[in-house]
Amino acid sequence: MSKASAFSAPKGVPDYVPPQSAEFVAVRDGLVRAAELAGYGHIELPIFEDTGLFARGVGESTDVVSKEMYTFADRGDRSVTLRPEGTAGVMRAVIEHGLDRGQLPVKLRYDGPFFRYERPQAGRYRQLQQVGVEAIGVDDPALDAEVIAVADAGFRSLGLDGFRLEITSLGDDTCRPQYRELLQEFLFRLPLDEQTRQRAEINPLRVLDDKRAAVRELTADAPLMLDHLSDSAKEHFEQVLGHLDALGVPYVVNPRMVRGLDYYTKTTFEFVHDGLGAQSGIGGGGRYDGLMEQLGGQPLSGIGFGLGVDRTLLALAAEGKTVAPPARVDVFGVPMGTEAKARLVVLARQLRADGIRVDLAYGDRGVKGAMKAADRSGARLALVLGDRDITEGTIVVKNLADGSQESVPFDLVGARVGELLVD
Ligand code: HAM
Repeated sequence: MSKASAFSAPKGVPDYVPPQSAEFVAVRDGLVRAAELAGYGHIELPIFEDTGLFARGVGESTDVVSKEMYTFADRGDRSVTLRPEGTAGVMRAVIEHGLDRGQLPVKLRYDGPFFRYERPQAGRYRQLQQVGVEAIGVDDPALDAEVIAVADAGFRSLGLDGFRLEITSLGDDTCRPQYRELLQEFLFRLPLDEQTRQRAEINPLRVLDDKRAAVRELTADAPLMLDHLSDSAKEHFEQVLGHLDALGVPYVVNPRMVRGLDYYTKTTFEFVHDGLGAQSGIGGGGRYDGLMEQLGGQPLSGIGFGLGVDRTLLALAAEGKTVAPPARVDVFGVPMGTEAKARLVVLARQLRADGIRVDLAYGDRGVKGAMKAADRSGARLALVLGDRDITEGTIVVKNLADGSQESVPFDLVGARVGELLVD
């Protein structure tokens, strides 16, 4: 029975405790590995930054900035914000450290917690975990396809397959402003409620993403960005799709896709999982060709993604899949007496140095309690040591799966354990 604590985790913030935390780590590391395989170097960034960075980078009109940021004044009265996303911070660091003056593209990956004051619900947390990549400085459709393929490979490496990739192009400087006007003209002619009208004023694209049936019907014939792309944006998008075809990465073009961040240009995409209910986005990203310049850097292009670790875990559960190793250790020591414990402590250290995961029974639970702990640990082998073994210079190696056991000379136990674990 768990005991009620005087405190609980903040609302909307998940804890990951064993054994589920092993799943969390396996998912995060699996997604990171996909990025690593494509040459993305790790970047470790501050959890909080100057508030202005997000306001300028993510966009004042977005929900993320206007409603969801954890912003506070520090003791020096500077306004700081817990990072709601990773891209703006990566850009800041790339500019600050002059990485943009070296070899291009700069390819970076990151993972960790992000913070958004959203209304908590299944799959929507106030502290969320992402694995992200950013590829900066080269505007090449093949790079867009690589970024997308890395995300796709990351999910698939975990055994996930019930998701789909939705993709579109949001155009660029040469076509988006004209399209925005066109869309606004269309929207302003509709009998929209006041709030939706205001949204049309600030961010007309959002209206196309409205989930209400009545609004959907009204906007069924709205002009779409994809039909109004400049020649170069169109060519870029077609090439991205061509690369994805060649890579065998399946996708669906969704011309109505809207992302919650302002910096996107051209290729924009989302990974959607149908097993998750309303919060179905397990990852998303796109190009952000004006962002670096907007943050005071060179006019370099960029593309990246953020994959939701929490939601990927939920998606795996929805598919009935697990990814973590079932056991936390390989070997469990069962000492019978003080001298035996002293020896097992030393043996455990030696085995660990050989890369074998070892735990042992501490406290005075007796042999029965210690054997129970060995079973619970998931270990394949127990090392049982009593006074008689010590006198004889041996130790009992017990196979916990079938109960068979053998007596092994103490100085050969490392080698024997190694052999048994390989089988
Ligand atoms: P985003 O779509 O806001 O993009 O977040 C990426 C992923 O993080 C989402 O697809 C979702 O899986 C997860 N996520 C977001 N909010 C929550 C939440 N409240 N609870 C649980 N999971 C959540 C970005 O953050 C961009 N920085 C991605 C990017 C990188 N674009 C270009 N480069």
